[in-house]
Amino acid sequence: MRLLVTGGAGFIGSNFVHQTVRERPDTQVTVLDALTYAGDRASLDPVAEAIRLVHGDVADRELVDGLVGEADAVVHFAAESHNDNSLNDPSPFVRTNVEGTFSLLEAVRRHDVRYHHISTDEVYGDLELDDPAKFTPQTPYNPSSPYSATKAASDLLVRAWVRSFGVRATISNCSNNYGPFQHVEKFIPRQITNIIDGVRPKLYGTGANVRDWIHVSDHNDAVWTILERGRIGETYLIGADGEQSNKDVVALICELMGQGPDAYDLVSDRPGHDLRYAIDASKLRDELGWRPRFTTFRDGLVDTIEWYRANEAWWRPRKAATEARYAQLGR
Ligand code: NAD
Ligand code: DAU
Repeated sequence: MRLLVTGGAGFIGSNFVHQTVRERPDTQVTVLDALTYAGDRASLDPVAEAIRLVHGDVADRELVDGLVGEADAVVHFAAESHNDNSLNDPSPFVRTNVEGTFSLLEAVRRHDVRYHHISTDEVYGDLELDDPAKFTPQTPYNPSSPYSATKAASDLLVRAWVRSFGVRATISNCSNNYGPFQHVEKFIPRQITNIIDGVRPKLYGTGANVRDWIHVSDHNDAVWTILERGRIGETYLIGADGEQSNKDVVALICELMGQGPDAYDLVSDRPGHDLRYAIDASKLRDELGWRPRFTTFRDGLVDTIEWYRANEAWWRPRKAATEARYAQLGR
């Protein structure tokens, strides 16, 4: 299979490319990535000889049309992905997440190429902390931030292109990922690298907000499962029953890194901060037989901490600028 992977130099995309090269050596991978602040060629160094990397923008319709025309399938990871940044400047989110998806959809329509769209559980808004409900494929869209609104818009474009033009697409909406190669702006890597630097972790608000954590390898296994066996036009939710409050996650990181359980600082909250996400992945489990491999969050976190300790050369160049951006936001 000739596979076009957008955003393959980012966190989830680079893990997907590594996994594909390792487990599916017959797949010819082309990565299209704009190498924004969030993308890094170095994340693809371990597989550089086995893939083609094209430095370009998913919203560049001519470039995208040419690359899609050479592919059998597209997996679209490329996005502006960080909520805090979207609150500061939404414009790149609209361009990349909405216009970029539009440009891919037009190309897959023209060339009749199979398309898988990577999305997020944040399109559903949030749940109350004490509500036993989880997100299902029937939950109405209700995004809170500019980031999640642009992801919701891109999902709706995909649904319309399936229905109106017969595009062969599937969509997945996944919960919070963790693992190697995640940018230090995100919650878990930020706290791990802060502790390595002798700085206390930073918890927004009271730390009561809940996220549903999944290891990035489990997310990417699910993406391959949907690409190969998912029903065209369907939406699959991906999650591994990993609900944890932010406070509990920080306490566990502190414990695993030899700090006291409350050796963190409470900082000002994110505006519009979603309270809780929780995924019901029964459709993916029951229809397609997918199961997560990293069954305990603790084991996955131990591996992740170890990875950041061993790969300081990868994250160090971005740490100071990231913390300077947070300092401007008072977080
Ligand atoms: P990331 O920010 O780490 O990586 C995004 C990648 O896209 C980077 O390599 C960046 O250079 C590239 N990119 C950005 N704009 C581009 C453009 N205009 N053209 C081409 N490439 C561009 O993001 P991530 O965390 O790996 O997320 C990947 C996808 O998964 C996104 O679509 C995100 O919405 C979705 N998602 C993420 C999570 C999570 O927990 N991180 C959970 C569910 C869904
Ligand atoms: O749910 C899927 C989404 O998960 C993806 O669509 C997004 O791309 C991804 O960034 C992530 O969004 P979140 O906003 O949940 O992730 P973030 O890592 O920014 O924050 C996780 C939680 O931790 C959130 O409740 C905010 C909080 N937080 C974050 C940072 C950076 C802190 O308490 N302290 C911090 O320093």
